[in-house]
Amino acid sequence: MSLTKSHGRKSIRENLKPQSLMDEPTNLAGVWTARIITLFPQAFPGVLGESLTGKALQDGLWQLDAIDLRDFGLGKHRNVDDTPAGGGAGMVLRADVLGAAIDEAQSRSRGAAPLIYLSPRGARFDQAMARNLARADGVTMICGRFEGVDQRVLDQYNVQEVSLGDFVLTGGEIAAQAMIDATVRLLPGVLGNAASTEEESFADGLLEHPQFTKPAEWQGRAIPDVLMSGHHGEIAKWRQAQAQAITAARRPDLWAAYQARLKRGE
Ligand SMILES: C[S@@+](CC[C@H](N)C(=O)[O-])C[C@H]1O[C@@H](n2cnc3c(N)ncnc32)[C@H](O)[C@@H]1O
Repeated sequence: MSLTKSHGRKSIRENLKPQSLMDEPTNLAGVWTARIITLFPQAFPGVLGESLTGKALQDGLWQLDAIDLRDFGLGKHRNVDDTPAGGGAGMVLRADVLGAAIDEAQSRSRGAAPLIYLSPRGARFDQAMARNLARADGVTMICGRFEGVDQRVLDQYNVQEVSLGDFVLTGGEIAAQAMIDATVRLLPGVLGNAASTEEESFADGLLEHPQFTKPAEWQGRAIPDVLMSGHHGEIAKWRQAQAQAITAARRPDLWAAYQARLKRGE
């Protein structure tokens, strides 16, 4: 019986021989791997299969191994959850079921791959975390559902809890895809123009300057003259000033950290 849906370099060949290749666990050595424990493996690659991340997946610059939690379920109905100890609404993913899925994920994992539970209680995901994940050999992510997971499994495996933001999603899959997207675009070769990650928001601690394109005038609004001047030095200065002004106005936290770094001469 298959325990996985796998994606990545092999997915190019899915058209030729779909079922058997989908049954093979993806484990290409040296390729950054997102291993996802989920009740909805069919939700992957989802939007990650599109555009640059999708092309990079097909080209084998990263790979995806979606592990179906249901395969580790108990009994005839492959139950994965049960009622909360102490009472209350909803259901909780069982430690024994999730533990078996984590063991399977870790047996396939090579190198350094943090084990993360997507959780609104976790540390808020940010660009620095994406950079750290991109430097690792991959990541294993647990997507919760219902009321979440049995605490003992988080303690037993020393799982890091990471949140997409201060709101509650129905499940971890969307959060996982957002974090994988932010990480994969930092992997070498994924973006054609490497400079673009260096200039975008958060790269140097500032939000990005405004962007414009043709037409030169739209609805009576013109592109700022400096951008049409062809003067690269002035354009760079204008963009830096705009990035600083936007960051100071919208994100005082980032602005304070940026100024502190400047003061330290970093
Ligand atoms: C309905 S939520 C459970 C919420 C949980 N009872 C609580 O109050 O913290 C179901 C699953 O969605 C995922 N999830 C929800 N919000 C999230 C967020 N902000 N970031 C990451 N994952 C989230 C988690 O995996 C969670 O186990």
